[in-house]
Amino acid sequence: MKKRLLLTFIALSLAVLSCRTLLPGPALDPTPLPALPTQPVSTPIPSPRPTFQPAPTDSIPTEIAGAGADTLNDPYYPQMGNGGYDALHYTLDLTVDLDNNQISGSTTLDAQATEALSSFNLDLHGLDVSAVTVDNLPATFSRQDDELTITPAAPFAKDQSFTVSIAYSGRPQPVEDIFFPDETVGWFADAGVYVLSESAGAMSWYPVNNHPLDKASYTFRITAPKQYVVATNGLMKSEVVKGEMKTTVWEETHPMASYLATLAIGHYKLFTETGPNGLPIHNYFPPEAGGEITSAFSRTSEMIAYYSQVFGPYPFESYGAVVVPLELEFALENQTLSVFSYDMVDEITVAHELAHQWFGNSVSLRSWENIWLNEGFATYAEALWVEHTEGKAAGDDYMRDIYAKARAKNMAAPGNPEARHLFDDFVYYRGACVLHALRLKVGDELFFKILHEYYARYQYGNASTDDFIAVAQSVSGQDLQAFFTDWLFSAEIPPLPQPG
Ligand code: ARG
Ligand code: ZN
Repeated sequence: MKKRLLLTFIALSLAVLSCRTLLPGPALDPTPLPALPTQPVSTPIPSPRPTFQPAPTDSIPTEIAGAGADTLNDPYYPQMGNGGYDALHYTLDLTVDLDNNQISGSTTLDAQATEALSSFNLDLHGLDVSAVTVDNLPATFSRQDDELTITPAAPFAKDQSFTVSIAYSGRPQPVEDIFFPDETVGWFADAGVYVLSESAGAMSWYPVNNHPLDKASYTFRITAPKQYVVATNGLMKSEVVKGEMKTTVWEETHPMASYLATLAIGHYKLFTETGPNGLPIHNYFPPEAGGEITSAFSRTSEMIAYYSQVFGPYPFESYGAVVVPLELEFALENQTLSVFSYDMVDEITVAHELAHQWFGNSVSLRSWENIWLNEGFATYAEALWVEHTEGKAAGDDYMRDIYAKARAKNMAAPGNPEARHLFDDFVYYRGACVLHALRLKVGDELFFKILHEYYARYQYGNASTDDFIAVAQSVSGQDLQAFFTDWLFSAEIPPLPQPG
């Protein structure tokens, strides 16, 4: 979520507020969403295995071990990710020297070869690698640009499991961002440490198969001066103080895309609550944070309950937020622990980042050109929250404003926005309009069935625009190809379908 959007939201909320004072009461009475199917949607779509499927590479015969590809062939990010193996679990064991912004330690990756391999790559930006072992034997390695190539003592057979451990240290270097030339992503040392990696920033602090296609679970073992609070993805498992240092262990047991791995080290005050079904909610706020901050998050539990009803069960073991005491105009939906800068805290943005836990984090992109599946869905989720809390008319107004803005500014089609426009407003606005138009076209009942079925089928995995279209067609029993082509790929913005 970006600042420009925030300002728009303020404008939208003001518009909603002023409408409220002008319009007679009944028009704004909260209208609950139509009842959702209580039975699981029973469309006969087989569930895919929610695991990594490598993009096709120039493959070598499986019996002959070759070098793993240094790319997953993402059209927008040809350098991101590597082929030949499936990353299963990362263990980051890092000591952080906050005074000098230095890290040292190791990252250990449990993985499985998807082809016979004589060598394979990880992505790593900067930092000094001192040693690499594979299955506890020394391995040779070389580096070129952001590629770390590792040659194990003996080649891997296809399907062989292996554990690679990389010892490294140094000062994390910012990763340049294709879409905002003056922004960087990854590790930041300011007000302690925080990490904002979308899209390619994860490699600034650990060696990684750096593409959302290869999701993995994580253990973080972070050692820092004991006066700091350390938070990352999943749940905290232990905190052990030894002398002046404290080692904090966190675990994220669900598959996670690398850009959602995060770390916050700083002076935070922890606020905990219990969400729906006992879900732990932990918010890390700056100690000086006032009521404007805490109140923006006061409905988190209610939001989780609501989105669980309209999308499907909340996917992870915890949720929470870190509010970094800086004005960065930035918020990011890190898995189970969204990060907000001070100037991005408002209820709509809180809802937006939460909705990404379903769409983006649990159902992840197959390739970055599918970004509207993240940002369009999260933006539409804002309108759903407004509808839920302020009534059907307010939700409609919210989308009418977004649609009007998209038209007034002649916003581009969101279906394949180009790497440098990945997070432009048109992806958010026109992306949300796709869902709004689909709802008007197929009606509420089928629309919410489609969302449920799409989420149920692709949760913990990856999906593409075509996967979403296929679910929409199969659930609705309608041919929607032309509809989606118009809304996703035509420069001209179609008129909104008439409801019913
Ligand atoms: N996914 C974030 C959101 O919730 C946006 C990230 C934008 N990335 C960037 N490097 N500026 O909208
Ligand atoms: Zn977003």
